Amino acid sequence: MSFNRSIKIAPSILSADFANFGQEIQAVEAQGADWVHVDVMDGHFVPNITFGPATCKAIRPHIKGVMDVHLMISPVDQYIDAFAESGADFITAHLEAGPHIHRTLQAIRATGAKAGLALNPGTPAEAAKGLIDDLDLICVMTVNPGFGGQKFIHSQLEKIRTLRAMIGDRPVHIEIDGGVDPTTAPLVAEAGADVLVAGSAVFKGGSVSNSNPYGENIRAIRAAAEAALR
Ligand code: DX5
Ligand code: ZN
Repeated sequence: MSFNRSIKIAPSILSADFANFGQEIQAVEAQGADWVHVDVMDGHFVPNITFGPATCKAIRPHIKGVMDVHLMISPVDQYIDAFAESGADFITAHLEAGPHIHRTLQAIRATGAKAGLALNPGTPAEAAKGLIDDLDLICVMTVNPGFGGQKFIHSQLEKIRTLRAMIGDRPVHIEIDGGVDPTTAPLVAEAGADVLVAGSAVFKGGSVSNSNPYGENIRAIRAAAEAALR
């Protein structure tokens, strides 16, 4: 997996048919998805529950590209090995999930997975200072984590710019998660993001038996983001 800052679209399977993850993943990849974003929620760190490492392991064979696992759980550390063994390429933990985020990032990298750090909307960019050399991805939450389909929080754009400057030429991705659609994608791309997670904006209007809308949605988000970079 070589590093680059080209725009990558990462559909979140939180908006897919939960009874049909395998086919949904194959459909979005066939329709142009770059990464597959997998939202793990524990009903404690966030007010919603999705699934755990067993489901991640079950869906892994269906993902040809990058498996991007976003852990919205607390505590994190005791589950890292299980998510790594499930085949995750990126494992992202929240800075707010515990007092020892540096240890968590080190533990993720020790498994061989890439380490991601997610920041809630209320957490400033400066909180990531001192951690940049220990991570591979920063996920800027542009909604409060827990649910798909929420409204993009515009105040996060300044945070993206600050993080982009902090990262400099280090090989660290900036991922945006929440409310990404063709109207917000150009804003985050211009601010410095390269990985755009989108749930509702990718899966709307389609299904496994009618997956062309997934492709139209992915292309619309990508085109809007790339146009902002020209
Ligand atoms: C929210 C999740 C997101 C979510 C995004 O807690 O982390 O990945 O699925 O959904 P949309 O794109 O619908 O805002
Ligand atoms: Zn997510």
